[in-house]
Amino acid sequence: MNSEIYILAIESSCDDTSAAVLHNGKVLSNVVANQKIHSEYGGVVPELASRAHQQNIVPVVHQALQKANIGKKQLTAIAFTKGPGLMGSLLVGSSFARSMAQALDIPLIAVNHMQAHVLAHFIEEETQQKPDFPFLCLTISGGHTQIVKINDYLDMEILGETLDDAVGEAYDKSAKILGLGYPGGPLIDKYAREGNPKAYTFSKPRVGELEFSFSGLKTGILYFIQRETEKNPHFITENLNDICASIQHTIVSILMDKLEKAVKATGIKQVAIAGGVSANSEIRKQLKATETTKGWITFIPKFEYTTDNAAMIGIVGYYKYLTGNINTTDTKATARLSVEKE
Ligand code: KG4
Ligand code: ZN
Repeated sequence: MNSEIYILAIESSCDDTSAAVLHNGKVLSNVVANQKIHSEYGGVVPELASRAHQQNIVPVVHQALQKANIGKKQLTAIAFTKGPGLMGSLLVGSSFARSMAQALDIPLIAVNHMQAHVLAHFIEEETQQKPDFPFLCLTISGGHTQIVKINDYLDMEILGETLDDAVGEAYDKSAKILGLGYPGGPLIDKYAREGNPKAYTFSKPRVGELEFSFSGLKTGILYFIQRETEKNPHFITENLNDICASIQHTIVSILMDKLEKAVKATGIKQVAIAGGVSANSEIRKQLKATETTKGWITFIPKFEYTTDNAAMIGIVGYYKYLTGNINTTDTKATARLSVEKE
């Protein structure tokens, strides 16, 4: 087999168009075009997302190749996000990847987006330690909240997940209630850093051991804000930092509490976080602290590999290529796809 493996990866599952080039598992380029258009709607509008992907895909792929300083002819294979995600968005990336692979006569590798968030921990980086198998991963994004046991690169088992909203949605919807922009997670995180996390309390959901639920919390926050702004119309602006800090404190303590239960249940102390919400400063801080308080070995992804990006798709493509797991894969885009399935 060729020892110089160049993978072009394409990610278009939601509202970020991204392309990356990896050389033997190392990232040469990772270009992400965010779609600003959704901000005014407080969430992703699927039709607008697929149209923006269509506009972005050619320049984004071109830039990724240019930054990596390689030509199309040097590519070994093309990896793309098969699912889960928005069907219209997935189709743009998958059709583009398919035609490019056909034109170049190289393998096309279908990648599960949720597996990619987890395997971002295996991108070759000088400073980054890789987990050993098995390890636990708390995958927290705009569409998912799950604790996964990773037995091997492509062998994953869901131990628990959300029964309703994802944690990223809880952040985004809270931000919308507060009149902040989209995505709301980074904004709440920013204001929270200046606020008092104990200023207000929100009740936590009572669900099964390793399950999550965030829809009740969202409603609780909505009613709380409505009540307080009736008494004082300036309540939000006068207390924004404390409100954000209290929301963040509640969410992060729910996540940490479940992780602790998963560690106890499995006896596995290697714990990773992944997905957009793993960019959050508080979850990163609290997870890191468990190294001294609980003796966990923790894995926190580099910031650029937390939210949607093609480098993480590329690393899965690389491992699939190495194991010869390429030509048998079903390459049709699939809106619903479990992390347990390739
Ligand atoms: O993984 P991702 O980019 O897309 C999905 O696959 O869903 O995750 C996006 C989510 C959004 O809900 C966004 O608000 C959240 O990640 N997010 C954050 C932070 N940065 C992004 N949530 C909390 N704190 C952050 N710093
Ligand atoms: Zn994602």
